[in-house]
Amino acid sequence: MASATPPQGTPATGAARVLVASNRGPVAYQVGEDGTLRAKRGGGGLVSGLSAIGPDADAVWVCAALGDGDREAVRRTGGRLDPDDTGGQRVRMLGIAPDVHAAAYNGIANSVLWFVHHMLYQTPLEPVFDAEFRRQWAAYEEYNTAFADALAEEAAEGAAVLVQDYHLTLVPGLLRALRPDLRIGHFSHTPWAPPEYFRMLPDDIAEQLLNGMLGADRLGFLTRRWAAAFTACCEAVLPGGTGGTEIGVHGLGADADFLRERAGRPDVDERLAALREQIGTDPDGRPRRTIVRVDRTELSKNIVRGLLAYRQLLADHPEWHERVVHVAFAYPSRQDLAVYRDYTAEVSRLAEEINTAYGKPGWTPVVLHVKDDFARSLAAYRIADVALVNPVRDGMNLVAKEVPVVSEAGCVLVLSREAGAHEELADEAITVNPYDVVGTAAALHAALAVPGGERAEGTKRLAAAATALPPAQWFLEQLSALRG
Ligand code: G6P
Repeated sequence: MASATPPQGTPATGAARVLVASNRGPVAYQVGEDGTLRAKRGGGGLVSGLSAIGPDADAVWVCAALGDGDREAVRRTGGRLDPDDTGGQRVRMLGIAPDVHAAAYNGIANSVLWFVHHMLYQTPLEPVFDAEFRRQWAAYEEYNTAFADALAEEAAEGAAVLVQDYHLTLVPGLLRALRPDLRIGHFSHTPWAPPEYFRMLPDDIAEQLLNGMLGADRLGFLTRRWAAAFTACCEAVLPGGTGGTEIGVHGLGADADFLRERAGRPDVDERLAALREQIGTDPDGRPRRTIVRVDRTELSKNIVRGLLAYRQLLADHPEWHERVVHVAFAYPSRQDLAVYRDYTAEVSRLAEEINTAYGKPGWTPVVLHVKDDFARSLAAYRIADVALVNPVRDGMNLVAKEVPVVSEAGCVLVLSREAGAHEELADEAITVNPYDVVGTAAALHAALAVPGGERAEGTKRLAAAATALPPAQWFLEQLSALRG
């Protein structure tokens, strides 16, 4: 079913010395009304890492076509994208059949594996591993096989392959069987579930998944906690534990140079002026204080309890009325899944409810934006007095690391102890239990009360910890560890 193989006549290069594989690639295409394709480039740690190794490394990025525009680009190019669209990066995009991709990505990766690692199930009724699950698992195998085949074709003898995330857990094992000469790494950008939760998966699936990962020479995780959970799962499920596979921890940090340069551009200044207008001034004529959050509208980010905590703050501390605004940016994510659509609707409903209950002419207590706008996010980072990062569980959370880097006057970080970033930032943050709404409200109050000087000093220390391992270094560190 999968059509990962390029049309006849498109030669496999077999020349790549460094390969990256991820579901979402560095570019996405949209078909314009006139039939032209528009390429939009993304950012992130892998993009920085690959540009840091330079063009001589013969790097290839293998990714899946996600939407109609991507599929059209694959049809026109045979899957080897035009380097003009990718900033010079060689990209092989796989035109996996839409039904196979949907079952693997929405069905298994985002509805099962993401839920397991973030512990998101409402367990009295879910998960149910029925025949439909088995059908989707077969698609997940097929999708992983398409990646392994493409990597095997593109890789030079002894090349290093860096496989990304829960979408591609079977790739290391499949690729090892095809190409024993390769150095294979896998990196998890998510948390890892503890064994008692992971073992909800059917036993054969749990084994297959772990064995797939252990096909790698080296596995990378964002924190010691997630690495330890993975090891514990292997010990609980497999007779030989993690076997000979090496396990490393690489805590991806914020890219200070990029963020500071980008945050100073005119489009961010414009957004900042508009935001200030919306936030307004307090009864003494001073700019209102801000509690900022920026997330994908993602179940694990805990946006709803964040709003409940803010409502509790307003109930417990009337002295903040008209003096604070909760600036909440919740950008669309995974809207093919009904549970994400429902969650998105609940975020809007609750924000509206708080504004109706507490708002006054000239004061909107919650300023909610749901349209993705990176420049506006940076503007919010610049003026945040408090950053609220309260996920129920999160691999790292880069927002927690980015806000202190961009903040102008200093900002207090209210941080969930379940975010990976907590392992590195706890000393300088106010820690919260993400389920405890009353506790989070108290933490917000304490954060708002921190005096300016103390806030600025704390923010400097936060920014230093947050930038300890910038993206390019994060990537190079893994590459050299893999090459040994
Ligand atoms: C997380 C995952 C990434 C994923 C991103 C966005 O950070 O670890 O692999 O790309 O979410 O999710 P999406 O489903 O839109 O790619």
